[in-house]
Amino acid sequence: MIKVGIIGTGFVADLYMRSFELGTTFELIGAYDRRAERLAQFCAHWKQPSFASQEELLAAIGPGGILLNLTNPSSHFDVGMAGLEAGCHVYTEKPLAMTVEDAQTLCDLARDKGLMLASAPCSFLGEAAQTLGAAIRGGVAGKVRVIYAELDDGFIPQARYADWISESGAPWPAGDEFEVGCTLEHAGYYLTWLISIFGSIRTVVSASSRQVSDLLPVDDPAPDFSVATLFFESGVVARLTCTIIGPHNHSLRVIGDRGVIELDEAWNNAAKVRFRRRFNLRRRLMESPVAKRLKLGGETHPKVGRWGSASMNFALGVTEMAEAIREGRDSRMSIDLALHLTEVTLAIQGAGDNSGAQQMVTRCDPIEPMPWAKRLG
Ligand SMILES: NC(=O)c1ccc[n+]([C@@H]2O[C@H](COP(=O)([O-])OP(=O)(O)OC[C@H]3O[C@@H](n4cnc5c(N)ncnc54)[C@H](O)[C@@H]3O)[C@@H](O)[C@H]2O)c1
Repeated sequence: MIKVGIIGTGFVADLYMRSFELGTTFELIGAYDRRAERLAQFCAHWKQPSFASQEELLAAIGPGGILLNLTNPSSHFDVGMAGLEAGCHVYTEKPLAMTVEDAQTLCDLARDKGLMLASAPCSFLGEAAQTLGAAIRGGVAGKVRVIYAELDDGFIPQARYADWISESGAPWPAGDEFEVGCTLEHAGYYLTWLISIFGSIRTVVSASSRQVSDLLPVDDPAPDFSVATLFFESGVVARLTCTIIGPHNHSLRVIGDRGVIELDEAWNNAAKVRFRRRFNLRRRLMESPVAKRLKLGGETHPKVGRWGSASMNFALGVTEMAEAIREGRDSRMSIDLALHLTEVTLAIQGAGDNSGAQQMVTRCDPIEPMPWAKRLG
């Protein structure tokens, strides 16, 4: 069994553990966190061995195992580099790094050493995203012209986020979330879906702004609002919105010649994927008020129940990586995807109010669907 060790046992680590409880195809060997108290709380709750230092954990994972980097974004680069230097494959929470240069350095080192390097999110491997991909490839909506993707989280400055505590007792890291920003934190939830289906984004035309920074308890908040128009090499154009201001809306609409494929929630692996056929009723053009549910044929993957605002299996990506290592094949959670995702996300977040068109340098081809998602049932 491939060995997996965790660095960073905060809020999100609990979501991983809840997902691992559904069963793993790798061996979780334990965890390390630089906050000894939090590490002890996490390890006691989940009955995991704790390690006294990063070096000790990396040695225990050993070359060829997987480091699961669940630290804060500002630590992703250093911890990721240490993992690769130790000969471990690295799966890191998003973003891969805080600059494209750092992300490129990580990717170059991973390639040089023949190691895998992946960036969350992994929800594009989940049932809803894979159903969407099968529907698009199967031509359900006809030729796809435009996509609207929304990641509005609600008016978070007024949310009782001080009360958001993870299962084993970690507070939601509000300060870090606001300084990193909702675009770096969330754009990937739809960017990975779209890149995995349509491939590379050629050009980003975006704007970002700080609209509620006076309401956030941090000195240097990141943009809390961004809207991007994404021009894919394939010809598709998508509009992606990320805010912590607009009323909660995580919907996706894929608009094609025959109608619209839609779903309501990016953060639910089991979100219903539906199709509304377009037709003319006398002189009126409309999309059908009755939506057809689209489904894959057989079994997909284990699902976790809802926790907070999400029902996502956080184990899908690490499992994909571990299976790819064991089977000696490429991982769907590829270096190309991690780097392209990071370049596009940083371009959106940093756009400000006058960035013009930004040409992307990195590329990522569409990603092989999961074996259970070749076509709709
Ligand atoms: N909070 C969420 O809902 C959520 C959801 C999905 C993904 N994420 C992502 O997960 C990552 C972690 O977020 P979180 O919410 O768990 O944050 P957190 O602050 O609750 O936990 C991060 C942990 O990492 C530890 N850490 C940081 N740098 C370290 C280092 N160099 N060595 C050892 N330990 C270190 C901290 O002590 C802390 O315990 C972030 O990249 C975030 O974007 C968060």
